[in-house]
Amino acid sequence: MLETSRLRLRPYRPADAPDLAREANDLRVWRTLRDRFPHPYRESDAERWIATHAQVTPPTALAIARRADDRLIGGIGVERQADVVRFTGEVGYWLGFAHWGRGLAREAVAEFVAYCFARFDFERLEAWVFEPHRASRRVLEASGFRLEGTARRSVVKQGELMDSCLYGLVRSDLRATELPSPP
Ligand SMILES: CC(C)(COP(=O)(O)OP(=O)(O)OC[C@H]1O[C@@H](n2cnc3c(N)ncnc32)[C@H](O)[C@@H]1OP(=O)(O)O)[C@@H](O)C(=O)NCCC(=O)NCCS
Repeated sequence: MLETSRLRLRPYRPADAPDLAREANDLRVWRTLRDRFPHPYRESDAERWIATHAQVTPPTALAIARRADDRLIGGIGVERQADVVRFTGEVGYWLGFAHWGRGLAREAVAEFVAYCFARFDFERLEAWVFEPHRASRRVLEASGFRLEGTARRSVVKQGELMDSCLYGLVRSDLRATELPSPP
């Protein structure tokens, strides 16, 4: 389990299903995610997600919960890529709409990135963001990710074609930011 000043990143548990379904069942959350994120998001989707991820050790997907009451407000995860890119993990995250705009995603992503490099042998983490999605791009930049490129007209969401941005963070970037500044 990981803790930040306001959040707890912890494994999913069966009792999270109603909170997960309620927070995730929102077009405002879905519209900047891949279509594989269900919409509408039903309690059965939540139960399936939890059953798949709750027992993985070390966990690759964690619930984002409020530290105050341990209630789930979002999710964050990393997916190992395959073959020659197997030392790359793709990071994804979301928060329920009621929790946006308070710097919580930034807090969660920074903590999760440190966890990924500490607990797994990833050499690189990456994230793909729809080009117009300023908030998520800011979250990644604030967590040390660099914009590495733009895949032109690579995404279609709700019938709209758009560019997507590739952000990357390599293990040595993190080490560099953690080093104390020279006297
Ligand atoms: C992306 C998401 C996680 C951001 O969460 P959040 O907690 O609101 O983010 P933060 O409060 O940390 O804000 C991030 C930054 O974006 C900025 N921002 C927010 N909305 C913005 C907008 N419409 N335009 C420009 N900047 C914006 C904030 O000012 C902040 O910038 P700062 O760090 O320079 O102050 C949240 O919007 C979400 O869950 N969206 C749906 C799912 C999703 O898109 N996930 C990411 C897929 S790549």
